Amino acid sequence: MRPHTTILYFGIQKGGAAKSTSAAATAHILAQRGFHVLAIDTDSQGNLTNLLSGVDDIYEFAGRTTLEAMKAVDASGEMLLENFVHSVGPRMDLMPSEDFMATLSRWLYREFERDHPGQNPGLVLRNVVQRILSVRPYDFVIIDSPPSLGDQSINGMAAATHVISLFEPSKFCLDALPRFFETVFHVRNQLNPSLRVTGILATMIEKRRADTKLLIETVQDDEEYGPLLFKTQIHRRAATGRLNLQGFLANPELRRALIEYAQFVEEVLARL
Ligand SMILES: Nc1ncnc2c1ncn2[C@@H]1O[C@H](COP(=O)(O)OP(=O)(O)OP(=O)(O)O)[C@@H](O)[C@H]1O
Ligand SMILES: [Mg+2]
Repeated sequence: MRPHTTILYFGIQKGGAAKSTSAAATAHILAQRGFHVLAIDTDSQGNLTNLLSGVDDIYEFAGRTTLEAMKAVDASGEMLLENFVHSVGPRMDLMPSEDFMATLSRWLYREFERDHPGQNPGLVLRNVVQRILSVRPYDFVIIDSPPSLGDQSINGMAAATHVISLFEPSKFCLDALPRFFETVFHVRNQLNPSLRVTGILATMIEKRRADTKLLIETVQDDEEYGPLLFKTQIHRRAATGRLNLQGFLANPELRRALIEYAQFVEEVLARL
């Protein structure tokens, strides 16, 4: 057992950069290695929920998701575990998400601020996670985030101990990096002084594409981002793309799908 819980936030506001795939793969590999893992979905798309629960219809979790856990401001850790945390595999629990997560900001600024004056709307998820951990001290919490830098992302970063940025080699993703790290900086200054950046994971790599090579080199050569890049890169491969069809529990090509993620997790553990 590790002395403290490591809370890893996976993010980048660029859509389709393999946030959910990487968060799910990391959660699965850590659980396989014997760690107790809580995965938290904060995206209304519910992709992490799909990937880890194997449940096709994420509305099965309606009313029992991260959003309701955040709304249960006065609930005890036991109550949060009982109502919003679902066992989805050996040593793997999930706090799921579905469409209503998109109403988080409305609730935060209309109701939460009115009913809880003086409390910071950016710290609501952090308070949920801390109450849960006081009852069940998971080794790792893995937070997946939506492709935006809104309230879910602020709450996710504020709840985390470590941030991992995804980089999918495209101009749009390159353009997203400065604002992403500005947000990390802001959250660290305002809400979570001990937040650390663990690294940048390059995903969706296609070796034969010259533009991919160029974009990766641009990040490698950058004095801020270069040292953060993980050595492991995640290549585009069909087995990894099919994780959302085949799942994690009875997937005959799981080893092939996760082979690079296993190396990535080793690097993450070494950097913690
Ligand atoms: N290494 C890979 N090889 C092939 N396909 C992949 C790989 N990684 C992810 N994909 C596929 O790419 C798509 C986007 O991945 P994913 O949903 O993980 O990205 P995301 O950043 O979470 O997206 P969003 O911003 O919408 O939340 C998915 O269909 C996923 O299955
Ligand atoms: Mg996603």
